[in-house]
Amino acid sequence: MIHAKINHIDVVVEEGTTILEAAKKYNINIPTLCHYPDLHINSDCRICVVEIDGYRGLKTSCSTPIRDGMMIKTNSPRVLNSRKTVTELILANHDVNCTSCTRNMNCELQQLSKNLGIDTSRFDNVLEYKDIDDQNPSIVRNPNRCIKCGRCVDVCQHVQGMHVLERMGRGHDMDISPAFGLPLNDQSCSFCGQCANVCPVGAIIEKDNTNLVWEKLHDPTKHVMVQIAPAVRVSIGEEIGLESGLISNGKLVAAMKHLGFNHVYDTNFTADLTIMEEGTELISRINNGGTLPLMTSCCPGWINMAEQEFPEILPHISSCKSPQQMFGTLAKSYYATKTNMDPEDIYVVSVMPCTAKKYEATREEFSVDGKHPDVDVVITTRELGKMFRQMGIDVNRLPEVEFDSPFGITTGAAALFGASGGVTEAALRTVYEIVNERPLEDIVFNSVRGMDGLKEAEVNLAGTTVKVAVSHSLSNARKLIEEVIAGKSPYTFIEIMACPGGCIGGGGQPYGTTNEVREHRLASTYIVDGNMIYRKSHQNPDIHKLYEEYLQQPNSHIAHKLLHTDYQYRKKRT
Ligand code: SF4
Ligand code: SF4
Ligand code: SF4
Ligand code: FES
Repeated sequence: MIHAKINHIDVVVEEGTTILEAAKKYNINIPTLCHYPDLHINSDCRICVVEIDGYRGLKTSCSTPIRDGMMIKTNSPRVLNSRKTVTELILANHDVNCTSCTRNMNCELQQLSKNLGIDTSRFDNVLEYKDIDDQNPSIVRNPNRCIKCGRCVDVCQHVQGMHVLERMGRGHDMDISPAFGLPLNDQSCSFCGQCANVCPVGAIIEKDNTNLVWEKLHDPTKHVMVQIAPAVRVSIGEEIGLESGLISNGKLVAAMKHLGFNHVYDTNFTADLTIMEEGTELISRINNGGTLPLMTSCCPGWINMAEQEFPEILPHISSCKSPQQMFGTLAKSYYATKTNMDPEDIYVVSVMPCTAKKYEATREEFSVDGKHPDVDVVITTRELGKMFRQMGIDVNRLPEVEFDSPFGITTGAAALFGASGGVTEAALRTVYEIVNERPLEDIVFNSVRGMDGLKEAEVNLAGTTVKVAVSHSLSNARKLIEEVIAGKSPYTFIEIMACPGGCIGGGGQPYGTTNEVREHRLASTYIVDGNMIYRKSHQNPDIHKLYEEYLQQPNSHIAHKLLHTDYQYRKKRT
């Protein structure tokens, strides 16, 4: 063990602990800017410096291991002066226009400046304005607000394995940018939004669609309906000041009604529908010698990567649209017919944990009539939080309200879609019972739960043992994809989610998403599953009703027309 003193307080920690970690353990706050839990330590910003007796220069606490006998000061005049100077220099090269920035009041640079008592700067602003990249439907990159902390580069390169963002140039002239400064739309970007989730300032943000939603909510000619994805309910609490974890669905629905939505629906319904369609597709591929392994299709971040980089893999991907898109299609076909409404008057909003869903909704093929999109607009969990704050809605004080019908009943299987491994677990619960014609005794597949990057399970289908695999984060997905392309995959079914932990860790989720927070959201997801009356998609009575009234049976002609799609090679720069 290491014995040292921080601000005259005795600390005892394990060897290899950094000064920052040791200080945190003893509730001593050292400010940071480039450091982010779970990412590489780059030591780019020098905000976290401390003074150590006997050492000449100040040391960065995020990267310096604490040593036996060290006497460390975290708040000496020399340290405070250094932090202040560094922060002022960052501000002098920054578009300091806080009131027009999405991150206003939620910005790590703004908070740091406030904490350091910086109200005026000793340095003139020398920022040379660069073009803002807002040419894609998902992400906006504003280089004028970039503080060059490198978090986005690290998450894009090492967590996602995408290498879209790079450090260009050296020293003072170093810039963070996609290669050749090209827009993200011209790059092989998955639009996963992990870069936006870790950016400490307003330099990479989701494309804000809240004004589009307000406009339609105030338009009396529009019937505005909203669907809420499974992963949003276990994270929205963080947007309104609660601990990461559960918020009651009933209060969330009530708050959506206060915003003015005509009807509030649950994407979990079309997650159940996805299982019926995808499960049937899997059984059909197994029985008829179809292309295996079957790979899941509900994550547009992964679909983007597959279409841009791996054309050979496309026949393996399920033809099912994602639950978001299935909902949009049904809203403008089945629902419009049932309620005697002109689809043109229906406006479908999605609340998703995801920035890639914004792109997905704009794809040409996701339109019933080829003119109007099935899903009109997508907002993230963060944007929903913003709308609640704009209206001053205190979600926790509202009486509970149920999701609207039709599509009102959902299952625990569907709730699992928000977690890595959830689609697999939901699919196995249904496919097992359909193929084996007997109840599945133990419906919890622990081996595909949790944060391991690659997980697998085995299930017996009609006397044959079938292997399934699960991966989350795109760097992990590459290993499974390369195995499939090489013809060496031992699996029959593969689930891929682009974001770490699955959608509970999506790019549109509240800021401050770390592995610890992801674990809380996962635990809440499993609680939601455990509390449901129905826990298998094929038990959902509203799903049965939908097939009886409209879709006939899974994979029928009409189900194929409305609920399935195909994929194409979309070559981009890689
Ligand atoms: S959206 Fe994802 S793939 Fe694109 S730049 Fe950001 S982290 Fe990289
Ligand atoms: S875009 Fe954001 S995360 Fe990336 S280097 Fe700039 S400030 Fe850091
Ligand atoms: S894992 Fe979920 S949040 Fe992330 S890109 Fe895929 S669908 Fe979106
Ligand atoms: S937080 Fe340590 S150098 Fe940036």
